[in-house]
Amino acid sequence: MSEINWDALRAAANSAMQKAYVPYSKFPVGAAALTEDGRVVSGCNVENASYGLTLCAECSLVSALAMGAADGAGPAKLVAFTCVDGHGNILMPCGRCRQLLFEHSAKGMILETVSGFKTIDEVIPDAFGPRDLEERA
Ligand code: THU
Repeated sequence: MSEINWDALRAAANSAMQKAYVPYSKFPVGAAALTEDGRVVSGCNVENASYGLTLCAECSLVSALAMGAADGAGPAKLVAFTCVDGHGNILMPCGRCRQLLFEHSAKGMILETVSGFKTIDEVIPDAFGPRDLEERA
């Protein structure tokens, strides 16, 4: 964990948060993650007049992750993640977003949470994921 620059990651989440499109909730969120190949990806929430279609900041981050991949390579795995609210305070990813992050997590991925640093397995225990599809096919 020592090699992870959490200040830089938080700064990336804060600048992503500035781009949030939140005319309905007025609750901007920014998320940032470090990939195993040393890149920072980020995202903001993007709301919709059809409220339920809102994209969380993590959705935007995962889309950016996919778009950053080389053709045919697939998204890089994530090793560290942080998320902030409109005041720059750490925010917990919602349940759906923990699942989104799990899909792209490197083993032992670390998240900065409201109760300290935690692994992906701690924030979404016994998660359903790609391996279940392979092993149970
Ligand atoms: N939100 C996120 O972007 N990520 C989360 O993990 C929690 C919630 C957004 C969705 C909505 O635009 C706003 O926060 C209020 O729920």
